[in-house]
Amino acid sequence: MNVNKGKVYLVGAGPGDPELLTVKALRLLRTADVVLHDDLVTPEILQLTSPTAEVQNVGKRCGRKAIRQEEINFLMVTHAASGRQVVRLKSGDPLIFGRAGEEIEALRQADIEYEIVPGITAALGAAAAAAIPLTHRRMSSTLVLTAGHRASDADDSDWSRFASAASTLVVYMPGSNYAEIAGRLKASGFAAETPCAIISQATTDRHQLHVSTVADLHLSPRLPSPTLLVVGEVAQFADRDLAKSLPALGRESETAFALRLAESLSPSAEPWA
Ligand SMILES: C[S@@+](CC[C@H](N)C(=O)[O-])C[C@H]1O[C@@H](n2cnc3c(N)ncnc32)[C@H](O)[C@@H]1O
Repeated sequence: MNVNKGKVYLVGAGPGDPELLTVKALRLLRTADVVLHDDLVTPEILQLTSPTAEVQNVGKRCGRKAIRQEEINFLMVTHAASGRQVVRLKSGDPLIFGRAGEEIEALRQADIEYEIVPGITAALGAAAAAAIPLTHRRMSSTLVLTAGHRASDADDSDWSRFASAASTLVVYMPGSNYAEIAGRLKASGFAAETPCAIISQATTDRHQLHVSTVADLHLSPRLPSPTLLVVGEVAQFADRDLAKSLPALGRESETAFALRLAESLSPSAEPWA
C-alpha cells in the first residue's frame, strides 16, 4: 500500500442528535482534513468539524444539480490520494441505505485505505425517541428494515413476507404518499387495524410523531422530512407525550451543546488525540 496516501473513514453521524455520535466519530470529525457529508447530517453535527477542515455537502439534493455517485467517489479518492484524512459522513449508519457498497468498491479499486465507523441508524433513533420496542416478546420477533421508494421500476419487492403478526416493518424513505403506502401494505396482507407510527426528524428537538393504523394511514399529515414509518403491533406503544416533550438535548440548545462539546474535545484537551 502507498504510505503517502490518506485514508477515508465512512462515518455514521447517527439520526441527528449530536449526543448520539460515537466517540470515534466525534474524534474523526475534529481531526479530518476533509468532510464530505450527506444532506441529512444536521447543522449541529457539522459544527463539530475542525475549523480548518474542508467541508462539502455532497448530498443528492444539494443545490439544484444532483451530485452523481461517481463524483463523490472521485472526491474521496483524490483527496485521500493527496494524503488527506477524509470523513465521508452519512446520516445514521453508513451501511444502511447509504450507498456505502458503491463507495467501498471505488476505494478498493483505487487502493485507498478505508475504515467504517458505525452510527445509530434512523430506525433505532426513531424507536427510542418514540419509545417503540422494535421487538416484543409477545408481539414481534422479526424486525425488517426496508425502503419505501423502490430502487427502480423493476423492483418488485413486496411486503407480503412480513405481514405476519409477529414482525415489525420499518420503512425508510416512506415519502408522503401515504395512500400509496397503505395500499401496498393492504395488498401485502397487513390487517387494516395494524398500528403505524410516522416519526419525523427523530432525536432532534424538531421531532414529531403521528400514530394511526393501516386503515387510516392515508389521512396522515405530511410531517417534515426526514420521516420513518413503523408498521406492526409494537407501534401501539408509541409515546405521544414523550415525542412531544423530549428536546433531544434537555434545556440546552443543540447548537450550544455542540459548541461546548467541540470545545471540550479540542485537540489539546483530547486524551486520545
Ligand atoms: C438515504 S436513507 C439513509 C439512512 C441512514 N443511513 C440510516 O442508517 O439511518 C434516509 C432516510 O433515513 C430516514 N431518516 C434519517 N434520519 C432520520 C430522522 N432523524 N428521523 C426520521 N427518519 C430519518 C428517513 O426515512 C430518510 O428518508
